[in-house]
Amino acid sequence: MTDFKPILFSAVQPSGKLTIGNYIGTMQYWSQMQNDYQCLYCIADLHALTSLKKSKNLQKSIFDTLGFYLACGLDPKKSIIFVQSHVYHHCQLNWILSCFSRFGELLRMTQFKKNRKIDGNNFQHVNVGLFNYPILMAADILLYQTNLVPVGKDQKQHLELARKIACRFNSLYGNIFKLPAPLIRNFGSKIMALLEPSKKMSKSDVNKNNVIFLMDDIPSAMLKIKNSVTDSDLPPKIYYNTQKKLGISNLLEILSATTKKTISVLEKELDGVMYSEFKKIVADSLSKFLSKLQKSYFSYRLDETYLKKIVFEGAIQAKIKSEETIKKIHSILGLTTFF
Ligand code: TRP
Repeated sequence: MTDFKPILFSAVQPSGKLTIGNYIGTMQYWSQMQNDYQCLYCIADLHALTSLKKSKNLQKSIFDTLGFYLACGLDPKKSIIFVQSHVYHHCQLNWILSCFSRFGELLRMTQFKKNRKIDGNNFQHVNVGLFNYPILMAADILLYQTNLVPVGKDQKQHLELARKIACRFNSLYGNIFKLPAPLIRNFGSKIMALLEPSKKMSKSDVNKNNVIFLMDDIPSAMLKIKNSVTDSDLPPKIYYNTQKKLGISNLLEILSATTKKTISVLEKELDGVMYSEFKKIVADSLSKFLSKLQKSYFSYRLDETYLKKIVFEGAIQAKIKSEETIKKIHSILGLTTFF
């Protein structure tokens, strides 16, 4: 790692149920990003506590997620890969930043408004962790003097809040925090539900035929593509247009990500092809892609000693970096430090 590369921070909540949408929107870029930036990849287990189900084994989900990180090409020699709860500074900064955040700001967060199962203005039973969630995210990002954060639309508001808190702190105490900027891709950022291509593909969709999971068995993934919704245009024509050709554009995105060919090359190759044939091409390509990914996933996932070693060493590296920020803040706020 050289010093002049910008710092990039990325985090995903641990869940073994990643979808092809997660891969195409985010994870497919990770291995390349490691060359362009100093990357930190964090498994946000503390964020997952906000909606923990008792039946869920968090430890297992952390390993599952890490297995996918590695299968997608993350390299612990190039990037810092770690688990959020292993680096206590996240919680420390979370508290400090909460003293520089406003109640009203958090109330305005769209994700919070959606999650709290709106019951008029009755907040009696709302989990405080859910409310505080964006401040912990701000702490994650600001601890590492991050320059860039890859974010989807749903997390953009949280990043803006992190900037706001950082600005407020900086205006009182000088230039302590770098202001993080979003890294947004304009292509392949949103994969849609297979049967209802006007809505986003989501792992929590009740209809599992809308979703391709990275762990789907190959025949059922192929079947989901075959049954996906296209359109009834006459004559049928394959081209990319996210307004007029929702289903077809979605399949083109999937084909493009799994073949690594651009959409315009694919449009030319598929000129005159029937929809049924097109679906077969997408299904075959997806099948090859998933088998390779799953094979690689299992080779990592089965070796828990190796996985533990990665996050152990990742935490040590992350602590060295985050400690610099924490020390500065302790000193500026007049908190005594003994470390
Ligand atoms: N909240 C994010 C999500 O659920 C995960 C996350 C935690 C994150 N900390 C972050 C994302 C910091 C970006 C930066 O997707």
